[in-house]
Amino acid sequence: MEKDVVKKILDLKEQKKAVILAHYYADGEIQKVADYVGDSFYLAKLAKEIDADTIVFCGVAFMGESVKVLNAKKTVLMPDKTADCAMAHMVKEGKIEQMREQYEDLAVVCYINSEIGLKCKSDVCVTSSNAVKIVKALPNKNIFFIPDQNLGRYVAEQVPEKNIILNDGFCPIHVKMSGEQVKKVKSAHPNALVLAHPECKKEVLDLADYIGSTLGIINYAKNSDCQEFIICTEQGVIYQLQNDNPNKRFYFVQPCPICHDMKTITLEKILNVLITGENAVEVSEQDRLLAIKPLDKMLELAK
Ligand code: 13P
Ligand code: SF4
Repeated sequence: MEKDVVKKILDLKEQKKAVILAHYYADGEIQKVADYVGDSFYLAKLAKEIDADTIVFCGVAFMGESVKVLNAKKTVLMPDKTADCAMAHMVKEGKIEQMREQYEDLAVVCYINSEIGLKCKSDVCVTSSNAVKIVKALPNKNIFFIPDQNLGRYVAEQVPEKNIILNDGFCPIHVKMSGEQVKKVKSAHPNALVLAHPECKKEVLDLADYIGSTLGIINYAKNSDCQEFIICTEQGVIYQLQNDNPNKRFYFVQPCPICHDMKTITLEKILNVLITGENAVEVSEQDRLLAIKPLDKMLELAK
């Protein structure tokens, strides 16, 4: 049955000149049929370069929106339109305007995990893999970092010369991990290195041997001589980690962090959008012209 669906996906993909993009948090079977798998930055960058009429995006809403903004002529299909990132909406209305009134030289730095309306009001986007580099490169002293307080705090620690004002958003999956949970896994596997995503709380990052994006974590595990790792991010990365390192061991805190929105994507849903063309991402031209500026600025500053 699964084999049938995969075959149909691969045939239709070719027929419709479509490519499948997937984030590392999608299920392994989704990553397996994807043409490209990556972290948020890689996938956003790819959106500019990709040569295909249709992009099937296996991720959450903000990711599909970013691809559409950067690649307006393409059709971007979301296998499940309800897949959303809770953090992407965690900035209170009026907060950005209020901050702009308060600080004359303010730069609004928007983590790419945000809805399009927030990007429209921002100066530059960042992802977890380039946030430090981009904030450092900005001429502004005062930075309003939205929506994630944890990535914002991590950036503030790396760039102490800036006044970084934090917002109170967070990733509900990453904040559930605690220092105690990490210590428990570490006591069972004392030789394991702790690799953490910067969306984790400070108490987790303080225990980390490496902090980085999903791709950063994957690369670190691959290049390290260590044989065991405690992975402090969403469970989907295990697919790539095990593929790259069949003899290394990976542990997660318990309960294992799972982003249910990412997991709503199934092979059947990919096949459905390829057949029907349903769930195309739509972005108004007005929003697109506003949101493309911070996204393009990110791509420029991250070079
Ligand atoms: P990456 O930037 O590592 O892809 O992370 C995306 C994300 O949603 C983290 O929760
Ligand atoms: Fe959003 Fe968190 Fe899911 Fe990433 S893991 S998509 S930040 S809810």
